Amino acid sequence: MKIAISGKGGVGKSTLAAALALLSARQGQKVLALDADPDANLAAALGIPEDKQAEIIPISKQVALIEARTGAKVKQYGQVFKLNPEVSDIADAYAFVHQGVALLVLGAVEQGGSGCACPENVLIRALVMDLVLNKNEALIMDMEAGIEHLGRATSRGVDCMIVVIEPGQRSIDSAYKIIRMAHEIGLKNIRFVANKVNGTNDEEFIRNAFPNHDLLGVIPYSEEIRRNDRNGLSVLDGLSDEMMNRFEEILEKLK
Ligand SMILES: Nc1ncnc2c1ncn2[C@@H]1O[C@H](COP(=O)(O)OP(=O)(O)OP(=O)(O)O)[C@@H](O)[C@H]1O
Ligand SMILES: [Mg+2]
Repeated sequence: MKIAISGKGGVGKSTLAAALALLSARQGQKVLALDADPDANLAAALGIPEDKQAEIIPISKQVALIEARTGAKVKQYGQVFKLNPEVSDIADAYAFVHQGVALLVLGAVEQGGSGCACPENVLIRALVMDLVLNKNEALIMDMEAGIEHLGRATSRGVDCMIVVIEPGQRSIDSAYKIIRMAHEIGLKNIRFVANKVNGTNDEEFIRNAFPNHDLLGVIPYSEEIRRNDRNGLSVLDGLSDEMMNRFEEILEKLK
């Protein structure tokens, strides 16, 4: 199971990614949660305490690693470096394990256009490609709305891309843009999860916007999720059975 999660800012991508990763781990599955959003916040959704979060250094900032693997100096231009760096050991060595979930934070790479071949980018692309195409364990990727950096080759290995939406026109418009981008890079299996749904009007709004069988699940607006966020707890902490079932049903459909 290799899943990419996308959607407009603040819709609940990290919430869903954390819930699915934690549930998979509880079921005994080896799971890697990949924070591929430059504005990383998956660690918090997983309930990793703040002092431990501070210890996590994103791959984009691991200068020694980047330079050793690419043979190039970070922040120097016009260099020759390996386009196929060795990356297969990085996830195990750099992931932070919490409640059975291995979290790997990629971090932000300064964008120099889609063809940017700075060493950080080369290493991160090679790493994502290796995790998606060569590794057997479950992978849950928390992405931003822009998914171009997934790339054509990598997207072939992604089983499903989930676009998280909330009951509002702007999030639906953003979802359509993401669908277009996904098609451009060859991602075929695109599904939706509606989040922060408050009552029947909200649910109807969502159901009118997307075909029923593409909707993997509907997550209600939840005070419990807000409380956990405020208290620095994991998304699933003390969640009611009703809410837990919603996440479990989504995970089942992805298997
Ligand atoms: N079902 C829900 N009910 C209530 N609040 C929610 C729900 N889902 C997410 N939230 C809250 O909404 C906020 C945004 O959620 P989250 O961080 O998961 O979104 P995101 O899409 O990852 O955001 P970003 O684009 O900033 O990475 C958080 O405060 C989170 O606790
Ligand atoms: Mg997020």
